[in-house]
Amino acid sequence: MAISKDLARLPKHVAIIMDGNGRWAKSRGLPRIMGHREGVKAVRSVVRLARELGIQVLTLYAFSQENWNRPRDEVSALMDLLVDYLESELAELLGNRIALRTIGDTDRLPDKVKIRLMETVSKTSVNKEMILNLALSYGGRSEIVRAAKILAGRCLSGEIKLSDIDERLFAGCLYTAGLPDPDLVIRTSGEERLSNFLLFQAAYAEIYVTSTLWPDFAKDDFLAALSEYGKRERKFGLTAEQLAGPCTGKGL
Ligand code: IPE
Ligand code: IPE
Ligand code: MG
Repeated sequence: MAISKDLARLPKHVAIIMDGNGRWAKSRGLPRIMGHREGVKAVRSVVRLARELGIQVLTLYAFSQENWNRPRDEVSALMDLLVDYLESELAELLGNRIALRTIGDTDRLPDKVKIRLMETVSKTSVNKEMILNLALSYGGRSEIVRAAKILAGRCLSGEIKLSDIDERLFAGCLYTAGLPDPDLVIRTSGEERLSNFLLFQAAYAEIYVTSTLWPDFAKDDFLAALSEYGKRERKFGLTAEQLAGPCTGKGL
């Protein structure tokens, strides 16, 4: 594949808020679930391209904590779709040496989903080429509260001191412990909000919003997002002059 100049600077971790399945279906007079089904095809093509390009971590926001409040039929259809996806993708994940991981309150998922997830995570865990991280039953605020509770428990038990708590220790108690922060957050369907996604981790992520609805998000759209990322100047609070200087971004 010809990789353009802008793609020379690739993000290590791309996180995608896959939005617009319902609108995609509605605009065609179809039930919402058809939009979710079509969305799975976009997932496949994005995972393949991420792997081909050498992106290390791809996090996909597939189901939020708030999505549990959707109509029961839609939630149950989404859970079935997830089981189908995990069954159909195992060979592809193994063939491409991709490890599947999840973030979120996965205990809340139905048993049939949990069983498939555990199986896929364990069978792919040795894979080193890329991490495909599915955010399922995920909410950024409750992830932060959960981390605070873990640390409070460690303090109370005397394992750590209050003064030991810093950003690094806190990050280690999030679902994403051990993963780099997302460099690029993509949101499809034009909405300009985070919807409770990676609130702690995305502190310095570049945000890219496209009006393309998720089922229509094709390889070209992904390449356009990566190319735009390549043109951004990430400053991490520094001045442009500092960034141009010899000690650029040290320690960041
Ligand atoms: C994203 O598409 C998929 C999930 C949230 C599960 P939506 O279902 O939110 O699609 P719209 O926003 O209604 O178009
Ligand atoms: C965010 O999309 C969650 C996922 C993509 C899984 P939503 O459609 O649920 O977000 P809002 O309701 O538009 O903020
Ligand atoms: Mg939506």
